[in-house]
Amino acid sequence: MNRDPLDPLTALRPWEAPEVTSWGRLPMNAVDRRSESLPLDGDWRFQLLPVPDAPVGGPWSSAHVPGVWTMQGTDDLPQYLNIRMPFAEFPPLTPSANPTGVYEREVSVPADWAGRRIVLQVGAAESVLLVHVDGRPVGISKDSHLAAEFDLTGLVAPGSSSTLRLTVVKWSDASHIEDQDQWWHGGITRSVLLYATDPLHLADVTVRAAYSGELRVDCRVRDAGGALPEGWYVSGDLDGLPLTQDTEFDRLNAEDERVSDFLGEARMGATVPEVRTWNAETPELYGLTVRLHRSDGTVADMSYHRIGFRDVEIVGRDLLVNGERVYIRGVNRHDFHPLTGRTVSYDDMRADLVLLKRFGFNAIRTAHYPNDPGLYDLADELGFYVVDEADIESHDHAHEIADDPRYLNAFVDRVSRMVLRDKNHPSVIIWSLGNESDYGANHDAAAGWVRRHDPTRPIQYEGAAKLGWADPGVASDIACPMYAPLEDCVAHALSGEQTKPLIQCEYSHAMGNSNGTLADHWAAIESTPGLQGGFIWEFWDHGILQRVSDGRPVGRGGAGLYDNGVAAPGYRWAYGGDFGERLHDGAFIADGVVFPDRTPKPVMYEHREIAAPVRIEAYRHEGIVLGNHQHFRGLDWLSGEWELSLADGRVLTAPAELPDLRPGQTAAVPLPFALPVDGGEAWLTLRITTAREEAWAPAGTVVCLPQVRLREATVSAVENRSGTVQVDDDGLLVHPLLAAAPALSLWRAPTDNDELGGMALRWRAWGLDALVRKVVDMRWDGDQVTVLAEYAAEVGVVRHVQVFTPVEGGVRIEESAELPDALADVARVGSVFETVPGLDLMEWYGPGPWESYPDRRTAPVGHHSVPVDELFTPYLRPQESGGRNGVRHFRLSAPDATGIAVALDEPRQVSVTRFRAEDLSSVAHHDQLVPRPGCVVHIDAAHRGLGTASCGPDTFPSYLVAPGVHRWSWTLRAL
Ligand code: GAL
Ligand code: MG
Repeated sequence: MNRDPLDPLTALRPWEAPEVTSWGRLPMNAVDRRSESLPLDGDWRFQLLPVPDAPVGGPWSSAHVPGVWTMQGTDDLPQYLNIRMPFAEFPPLTPSANPTGVYEREVSVPADWAGRRIVLQVGAAESVLLVHVDGRPVGISKDSHLAAEFDLTGLVAPGSSSTLRLTVVKWSDASHIEDQDQWWHGGITRSVLLYATDPLHLADVTVRAAYSGELRVDCRVRDAGGALPEGWYVSGDLDGLPLTQDTEFDRLNAEDERVSDFLGEARMGATVPEVRTWNAETPELYGLTVRLHRSDGTVADMSYHRIGFRDVEIVGRDLLVNGERVYIRGVNRHDFHPLTGRTVSYDDMRADLVLLKRFGFNAIRTAHYPNDPGLYDLADELGFYVVDEADIESHDHAHEIADDPRYLNAFVDRVSRMVLRDKNHPSVIIWSLGNESDYGANHDAAAGWVRRHDPTRPIQYEGAAKLGWADPGVASDIACPMYAPLEDCVAHALSGEQTKPLIQCEYSHAMGNSNGTLADHWAAIESTPGLQGGFIWEFWDHGILQRVSDGRPVGRGGAGLYDNGVAAPGYRWAYGGDFGERLHDGAFIADGVVFPDRTPKPVMYEHREIAAPVRIEAYRHEGIVLGNHQHFRGLDWLSGEWELSLADGRVLTAPAELPDLRPGQTAAVPLPFALPVDGGEAWLTLRITTAREEAWAPAGTVVCLPQVRLREATVSAVENRSGTVQVDDDGLLVHPLLAAAPALSLWRAPTDNDELGGMALRWRAWGLDALVRKVVDMRWDGDQVTVLAEYAAEVGVVRHVQVFTPVEGGVRIEESAELPDALADVARVGSVFETVPGLDLMEWYGPGPWESYPDRRTAPVGHHSVPVDELFTPYLRPQESGGRNGVRHFRLSAPDATGIAVALDEPRQVSVTRFRAEDLSSVAHHDQLVPRPGCVVHIDAAHRGLGTASCGPDTFPSYLVAPGVHRWSWTLRAL
């Protein structure tokens, strides 16, 4: 069927008309019709036009709905850009090439829908949707992350079939306000369905359920035929408890002559005795059923809601949930999937949230648009505080658009539609006006709408808050900066000027090997009244699964082509530029706390410990003091086990009896063991697990591993000399198990933070990535050898001394390196050596088992054992990885138990991987790495913290490597 050149929908050119946000679209509401609908998902006829007004007529292929065409075999591929728009045209204009997807299918309308009101729902389409039925124009919608509904009654005939066409235009005026930092796609991203109601129907239901147990339910009633029939009424119940009609409301409505023939309003209520209130720790939900009756009592329409009783308010500078100042342990979450791009299933979302719960998160910001509706159901059920964010980001043209009256309607439309959809979710505690769109009158207009419609929740908007964290005149009730230096946050809280809760909307940027100082942030948050938490940026590494051979996205068939964060051979995680984009922002799209397949990165474990609900507060003579750090829950849902780990390898365990503690309380419990008099350093860990099944974890799931040191390390005696050491003519240690002798290392494969923070550039300019060693002196003192080497950096010479002394079964190596003052802030100072192949298991005593760095190191100290190949974290762009902080001693062994043992003079940063730093730094993707057969071992006297400088503050000065003299020593023995 060719397009009618006079088709009014295209004739309007709505893709370049910001004033047009919709046409023929039904108002948004909170009545969920998904469960009684006719799903239209599946394969549709599809063709991609070069421009929206090109004639339809080419050959049809097929496309899966929901799905973006950019992941389904077309030549229009994903493109990643952060801030810059992918085209040069100014708002509201669009580029001359504007891919437009035409989706078509037949729809058989059930015969028993005769006489009913028939509605089409398109879950989400980006960025403009045009709807036709049998060639007739039905409507237009923008707002790419919310559903659009159209009344098809009279356009389709029950008992027969119609042709439904959904035309999706990729670029529009709306693209300029959907300029979020993510992949650009085009297509239908959420389910399409059809449903039918009685002409007399519930147009909306608004629920207010307070902490006190007071429930109020407001219904809006309409009739598709126009005037409402006489005698309609509503009824409702809450898990069997009948609601009562608010007759006073009816009387006032009547008295004020507000009663209309076309809009019915009714209010019901209840007071729930001994209400089980909702919070993120104990997310108690009730089932609310609302019925709309005809005068004869028959039910015309029904609506079901899962609701929670809770209060949200700001008192002074505190955000309170049910009167408690809760910490917001949040993450920013996009709707993302490595195979579909944007479409996420209920199971996907459930897996996201379950994982977050298991790692101690309690809050989500729906960055940067209303997420899939299922997300909110799951947040209600599993327990998350949600900042619900409207789909507005005009980053590249922020200033022009914020005050542009042509976009006013779009701002109000997007914010109000989000509120109308999500207002009944207890999980939603804050509305966000959007992201990175400057601040203008359009924002105030949207905020004004929300304040009137939903006075029960605060509003936040970073763009407004940044004009003044305490400014009462801006449209943000929360001081919600992004990436604010911690010292600024603390200073604000201490200034006496603070008037609003300070909750960072984004902090601790998780790009690559990152999230340094997260624990320092939380130490400050928990000790500074006025600071209440924040949302880590971000949940996902948005790597798209790509076939290396043809550079195409794999798409929906790719399940099973990845495991443990790594794509199968022949595949990789694509980031910006990998689809041949001319403009792109590279690996900046890979900045999540999980890999594209949801495998948690080490920072997740760090977070789990930081968020520990039970903590060891102190170790005193009378015992261990435990504290409950939750806001609402006791400890009865948890089990504990003590584990005492001694440096000499002994581990003692005992069951732990957890005291009955209310939130905020502490209690002393007796030390579970008599501490052995020998064994050296001793650490006591309380292994906390779920006692019973939780909605998000089976019984026995680790919740946290709080720890306390019971005894410091004892200084070991100087060892007797025995045997000989051998060095070659270059002063390099000769050892049968080493493939490369210990040399000085001052460099690491730059992390994303090192690159984007400018450190990597400096290190390369100094020549630290390719230092050349020159032996300047060698001295023998009996069986002891001293080697002095020099490494010439661009800004000075580094002197490195190694003293080799034979000891029982091996060699002791005392080293020092003197860095000139100009070498301030290098990556590391330490030794690097390589082993022969075959030593594939690492065992160590120190924090673990997960990866740790000086500024990301809450891992508990103990004895750990991990295959060498699993020590490495496959960050999407290869970089420094696999470090273990605070290692006291370690061994690398082959299955036949041969190998090496290394004892360190004090806890040191150690890494054992298959890669030299230059192996990692010279490739762009993990699949290009060729593992070496032996181990590359780094022992660092000092290692720079990770920080978050790819976007936000660098690490703290205390985690930098200072110039001057560094000393370290270690003993190497054959096993
Ligand atoms: C923020 C922005 C996010 C993302 C992040 C950097 O400025 O809100 O969308 O771009 O920076 O990854
Ligand atoms: Mg942005």
